[in-house]
Amino acid sequence: MKSVYHLDLDEKKVNGAKIAIIPGDPARVAHIAKFIDDGKHAATKREFTSYTGFISNTPVIITSTGIGGPSTSICVDELAQLGVNTFIRVGTTGAIQEHINLGDVIVSTASVRLDGASFHFAPPEYPAVADFHVTSALLESAKENGLKAHLGITASSDTFYQGQERYDSYSQYVPRNLQGSMKEWQKLNVLNYEMESATLFTMCAAMGLKAGCVAGVIVNRTKTETPDKTMLSRAEDNITKISISTIKRLIEKR
Ligand code: URA
Repeated sequence: MKSVYHLDLDEKKVNGAKIAIIPGDPARVAHIAKFIDDGKHAATKREFTSYTGFISNTPVIITSTGIGGPSTSICVDELAQLGVNTFIRVGTTGAIQEHINLGDVIVSTASVRLDGASFHFAPPEYPAVADFHVTSALLESAKENGLKAHLGITASSDTFYQGQERYDSYSQYVPRNLQGSMKEWQKLNVLNYEMESATLFTMCAAMGLKAGCVAGVIVNRTKTETPDKTMLSRAEDNITKISISTIKRLIEKR
């Protein structure tokens, strides 16, 4: 039987799941699992926690990616080795456009590749683009749940501080090549910063897998650099609801 090293999973544990919900935070996995049928802990190793269960009688898996591209690439590759072909990333984000409010959600159509891992899957000219059907289902599900959703391009950075042009880091320094970068992304109609979608979208598009990403807004960078901790549970509830409805839609349309 096929098994994978980092996730500590095998085909039996995955139980035929073809669809995965992939939050960054391992602690978020158990929370999401409360909203699926028969949610059960399957494995925990390093940053990767997995629960399995069912949505509309269809097997699904929830696995955390950890923060950033490298661990995301391992999570997605190993789940794909075990038969998963559709990935729904749920996370938190910093909006960079003034009109986006805390508590809104952002559905990414594509990502600016400010990561490193995506370049191990495809050259720089290759787009980090989300799957159209997964993205449409995410948007419709956000609306169905009464949430304000913004659809557009995300800047996906390996670093939380320098790559997202934050000055409240240890050194309080942003290297010259990244100074002014937030202004540029704003001018180029990028909506937000997060840290995993560039790797996820590039590797999935390149390998014939499907991926989408929805993120809850916990800071608006036109106002402050610091995420609002009180927004975390709201963001988590919103992205959980959207991911479950999205999977129901995808199952119905099969
Ligand atoms: N996640 C990010 O990557 N950036 C933010 O500003 C908030 C969450």
